[in-house]
Amino acid sequence: MNTMPENKAVGILSELLSLECGYNPAEARLIRMAAILHDCGKQRIPKHIKDKAGKLTVQEIDVMKTHTKIGFDMLSCLRGEIREVAQNVALWHHEFWNGQGYWGVKSSALPRYVGIVSLCDVLVALIYRRVYKPAWPPTEALEYIKSMAGIQFCPELTDIFIWLIRGNSRIIAVFEEVSA
Ligand SMILES: [Fe+2]
Repeated sequence: MNTMPENKAVGILSELLSLECGYNPAEARLIRMAAILHDCGKQRIPKHIKDKAGKLTVQEIDVMKTHTKIGFDMLSCLRGEIREVAQNVALWHHEFWNGQGYWGVKSSALPRYVGIVSLCDVLVALIYRRVYKPAWPPTEALEYIKSMAGIQFCPELTDIFIWLIRGNSRIIAVFEEVSA
């Protein structure tokens, strides 16, 4: 399973946001595990597509999208409560609040924890450097996230998330270090 540092960061943030949203500690831990595993399907995406420095073609985007369904299938090996949570997160983490994500499902119709992981995933993806983009300063990344409230993300969840990040100097310090 894919446990790159970025995914661990998505897991930590998802647990914190889950607690802030009223999930109990055991539920928040499950959500953290699901968040760590959310992109495991990318392991089966060809390297020349997932690590491409330039823009993906329409065909390559279609291949890339399948990492969600591959992840869902891979996680069917899990047993217990974690399976449903991890599979939902893997399958739906690229859905948008307005229904214009990967598979056209409105994330408002999905379990709240899926939106939690989506928010954390996007923030971490912006803050870390990738072959196809530089690292974004945390303040700019948060501004972008805010601008996507009601489009990509649940507006209420976005407010809680931004409040949580801005109010946590330790998180900001780690992000400043990562993006420097
Ligand atoms: Fe993904």
